[in-house]
Amino acid sequence: MSKYSKYSRFFHIFVQMDKYITEAAQKILHSSHLNAFTGAGISVESGIPPFRGEGGLWNTYDPIVLDLDYFHQNPLEAWTVIHKLFYDFFGKADPNVAHIGLAELEKMGLLKTVITQNIDNLHQEAGNTDVVEFHGTAQTLVCTSCNKKFNKNEIDFSSLPVQCNHCNSLVKPDFIFFSEGIPPVAYARSVHEAESADLLLIIGTSGEVMPASMIPHLAKNKGAQIIEINTDDNIYAHASNDIFLQGKAGEIITKLIHEIKTLRNE
Ligand code: APR
Ligand code: ZN
Repeated sequence: MSKYSKYSRFFHIFVQMDKYITEAAQKILHSSHLNAFTGAGISVESGIPPFRGEGGLWNTYDPIVLDLDYFHQNPLEAWTVIHKLFYDFFGKADPNVAHIGLAELEKMGLLKTVITQNIDNLHQEAGNTDVVEFHGTAQTLVCTSCNKKFNKNEIDFSSLPVQCNHCNSLVKPDFIFFSEGIPPVAYARSVHEAESADLLLIIGTSGEVMPASMIPHLAKNKGAQIIEINTDDNIYAHASNDIFLQGKAGEIITKLIHEIKTLRNE
């Protein structure tokens, strides 16, 4: 490819992206019920690796640690990896500009609900007040026998596996393991919000895990428009997007908020 055509292609993509950002900002301003649907990709810029794709956690660790039978049969092995991934590593992460941007959209009265597959609590820490945790949360833990609830700050992670101080049984994080069902209240709210939205902003998900990956299709089937942000050209980019913004969530959300403020003459 000649030097000129390479630059003209880059310039074309750059101009195209600006056009799409403006279009997406206009859709957000004109929507009456915008919801967001997020996955691990929105937390990558907080230092939390995704599960799949480049640098994915499942490339390094065996997802079997989140299998319920394995967890009960090998509590120490499972808890050693779970603690490393979800309490040691995740625990130190802060919200990034993408999380903060979604909180700003809520403050601007433009975003209603965030349906997230993430368990890292970063949307809440950024300031979103209506967050549905489709896969539960790492913030609380529960005894597998007496159902006593614990906040993660009450737990002494220096002694693993984590055991209940009430009945001595195994304690597990309050996020779902692969063979577990979606928390019923979160499931019902997510379906309701997906079907009530007239615009859905999908950020940073591979769409590989059911039933979470049906959320955009529920919205689309009820007539919602879809804007997707992802670094990779992935399955949603073909199926149902009205606008696909390829890039890092932090950069794109920052551009979107700037464009919205410009269009609102702020
Ligand atoms: N900005 C935007 N998108 C990004 C970024 C970024 N900075 N970095 C990565 N991505 C995209 C990747 O291209 C990928 O499509 O984020 C997506 C992450 O996909 P997954 O790692 O599969 O995460 P997710 O879709 O949330 O996985 C769903 O799988 O293991 C289970 O319970 C776990 O909730 C998780 C579920
Ligand atoms: Zn107990």
